[in-house]
Amino acid sequence: MNEPNAKNAQLTPVTVLGLGPMGRALVSAFLDAGHPVTVWNRTPGKAADLAERGAGLAESVADAISAGPLVVACLVDYDAVRTVLEPATADWADRRLVNLGSSEPAEARAMAQWAAHRGIEYLDGAILTPTPTIGTPAAGFLYSGPRSCYDAVRPVLAALGGTGSYLGADHGLASAYEVALLDLFATAVHGIVHAFALASAEGIEPEKFAPFATGIGALLPEMITRQARQIQTGEFPGERSTIASASAGITHIINAATGHGIDVGALTAAKDAIDRAIAAGHGSDGLARLATVLRDGGLPAAEFVHRDRRIPPDRGVGMSKEALDDRPSGRSVGR
Ligand SMILES: NC(=O)c1ccc[n+]([C@@H]2O[C@H](COP(=O)([O-])OP(=O)(O)OC[C@H]3O[C@@H](n4cnc5c(N)ncnc54)[C@H](OP(=O)(O)O)[C@@H]3O)[C@@H](O)[C@H]2O)c1
Repeated sequence: MNEPNAKNAQLTPVTVLGLGPMGRALVSAFLDAGHPVTVWNRTPGKAADLAERGAGLAESVADAISAGPLVVACLVDYDAVRTVLEPATADWADRRLVNLGSSEPAEARAMAQWAAHRGIEYLDGAILTPTPTIGTPAAGFLYSGPRSCYDAVRPVLAALGGTGSYLGADHGLASAYEVALLDLFATAVHGIVHAFALASAEGIEPEKFAPFATGIGALLPEMITRQARQIQTGEFPGERSTIASASAGITHIINAATGHGIDVGALTAAKDAIDRAIAAGHGSDGLARLATVLRDGGLPAAEFVHRDRRIPPDRGVGMSKEALDDRPSGRSVGR
């Protein structure tokens, strides 16, 4: 194994497993901060430039784990992480594993159990921002798992820049936030490209349409904050706009898009939720009521918020006090 160089040998050595675009960005940030860094990747030959910058190249996963007390995994998915770690006969004593790949909450919890059975101290994480932000103030990370593990690795993870939000002891929390945020991102991207498709089918030039579209985007931050409060309190005043009115609006979009042969699958799914809300007697409510319909088919709002876990009214939905204090402004899940 090539030993890593370090500008500052006092800093904690870090191992990074995975040299995809994000793994490489993490390595780069750790190197810039002066940490001794050891890297391993399934496919060899992807680390020459990182080795020139001082990274050590581990020939095996076991060597990589042995190189230092913090092992950061950033692979395509959690199956890959287990596939890589399972056969490695490494001693995890005094080692901690931080998994920064994307996942789903149930997978993250299963990964925590897998780690616990092997005596591995485990922190789950999610990266909210794209590779160019890593190591800069614009980076955003979520972490969940034992507080003691987070506190131990936090000074090293600071090298990745931006804001790290600790969400709580449940290992699934980072993924839970991530999938919900990616839900917002993915459906928003679909909404943007769908609107461009409809506008251009109507002969509207994209660049003439864009300023009006960004105007819609500017309305969303206030709406998200207002809807969060309504879902939290279980009150859905319809004085700004009602679900019944949204039904008429979405019908116009579906008809216009269908007339141009544009797929309306996402819009009909949205209309279906609206129709169910109206059928359940919520037509005069505000749009935030639709969250209850989507999740529970129209349970009373108080049950919707509090069914699984009680949330004191002075706390964000599912967010720990530390996370609220620590959270970044303007996080992004764009890749
Ligand atoms: N890129 C971004 O902007 C971004 C942003 C936020 C979160 N993330 C998350 O970060 C993680 C890594 O993303 P990425 O952009 O670096 O690229 P990626 O394509 O998601 O992952 C590439 C890495 O996974 C490894 N890998 C794939 N299958 C494997 C297997 N079966 N066994 C062992 N290793 C395997 C690859 O090794 P080989 O080189 O051998 O193929 C490579 O190291 C993902 O979970 C992604 O969702 C990425």
